[in-house]
Amino acid sequence: MESEVVITSYSEALDVYRQKDLRQAQYDQADVLLEGVLVNLHGAAHRDRRRVENRLFRRETFVTYERELFPELTRKAIAPHQRAGSAELVSLGHELLLHLAVVVAGIDRPAGTAEETARLRGQVNLFIEALTMAQSTLDKDERRAAVAGGFTDWTEEFLAPSAARRRALLAEEGATGCPVPPDLLGTLLRHQDELGLSDGLIGRETAFFLLVAAHTSATAFVRTVHHMLEWLAEHPGSRELVHTDPFFVQRCVHETIRLNSSSTVGMRRAVEPVVLRSGRKIPAGAKVVIDLAAVNRDESAYGPTADEFDPYREIPAGVMPYGLSFAAGAHVCIGQDLAAGVVPTPGSDPDQHLFGLVALAVRELFRGEVSLDPADPPRADPTTTRRYWSRYPVRLGPRVTVDQESCLSSGRCVEADSTAFRFGPGELAEPSAQAGRLPEERLRRIAEDCPAAAIRLHGI
Ligand code: HEM
Repeated sequence: MESEVVITSYSEALDVYRQKDLRQAQYDQADVLLEGVLVNLHGAAHRDRRRVENRLFRRETFVTYERELFPELTRKAIAPHQRAGSAELVSLGHELLLHLAVVVAGIDRPAGTAEETARLRGQVNLFIEALTMAQSTLDKDERRAAVAGGFTDWTEEFLAPSAARRRALLAEEGATGCPVPPDLLGTLLRHQDELGLSDGLIGRETAFFLLVAAHTSATAFVRTVHHMLEWLAEHPGSRELVHTDPFFVQRCVHETIRLNSSSTVGMRRAVEPVVLRSGRKIPAGAKVVIDLAAVNRDESAYGPTADEFDPYREIPAGVMPYGLSFAAGAHVCIGQDLAAGVVPTPGSDPDQHLFGLVALAVRELFRGEVSLDPADPPRADPTTTRRYWSRYPVRLGPRVTVDQESCLSSGRCVEADSTAFRFGPGELAEPSAQAGRLPEERLRRIAEDCPAAAIRLHGI
């Protein structure tokens, strides 16, 4: 019988991830798409490819993504839902993160139509099944065939033209100075000969990046909103922080990722016998299962309330705020800073800081008020043993604030609707929770009637 070692403590897990004689074993069932891709490589082959790909995943690329490219894409994807007053976050999250992931992976959508995006999304949904095949409760042979079919369609429709465009740009780069976009496909094509990559492997690698970038961040987005809504219901005094403190939102993302690693376990296999620093012996050939749910709740790292969501958690130096959900060591997630930003230090400047694309998406959603729809509660996904939502409907309303510096206490808003506005300290007007539920037109009229123009409407 196969020997298996289960790791549940933070320090042992960190040690396991850093061991050179433990190779990746997580995706042995997913090779229809993942054969030969970065995450499955070991030793020198992994190091050489990772070195090349790391050149793309540097701070300057993330700054371009987070400050220049992503804010507008995010706003565009969320705005129609804000206007409609509701959203289903599982599908919105996947749609939004797909828009961002194609930029990172280097997949063009030349038609730019909703139908084209829907086809791409269907194919990426199939790729996601490859990643989560080990946990699938469906017929695995049938699903593998479906993934392979989706990969063929995607190669013809999306990969081949995207690669052709980048090859042409690379060929002309010196002559025209026309820049090749900063994306994975362009990087792989540039180094294709140096790394000895086949066209098929470039396709699988690009598909892998596309799917991990889109899928893991989309699930983190929905789960963060879920945790925040629950936590804010218990801490109503902190509601404003969602809108005013980007570091608070980033901490919520980190806590969410800690409590919900996208895979519940990490896996490695010993290519040689290994002795951990704790003294634990792992024989050659043994499988090592890192129980991330336990590791990320290890009280010796996260304290006695490790099981709870707490954005104010004090994290000891050297411990990751998001647990080992991005792994560690050679295979540490290459998109970690892109997804979750850089861990802030005391005095970090918000104008220079990278908050990550999940926090960016969450903050954009919370430009208005977000609340659950009592008539349509969230539902868990029954097709996987991983903890996913299949539907997460929310109501989106405008957020109303009164600029206390400008308010002249005329009381016009209170007269217009005393359920939505009231007098607060110093007889200055303030909105109640009801304000965001008024019909948009009525709200606009009340705001326009304010002689001091002190009423602000956000998220509409
Ligand atoms: C919340 C979001 C994310 C989570 C939780 C996450 C998690 C992980 C984990 C746990 C691994 C290591 C797997 C292992 O060694 O067993 C990993 C590797 C990887 N991730 Fe992420 N990831 C996220 C976002 C992203 C994004 C946005 C990208 C792409 C831009 C990305 C690209 C990759 C790649 C390419 C690897 C393989 C690295 C290697 O093997 O050297 N991930 N990720």
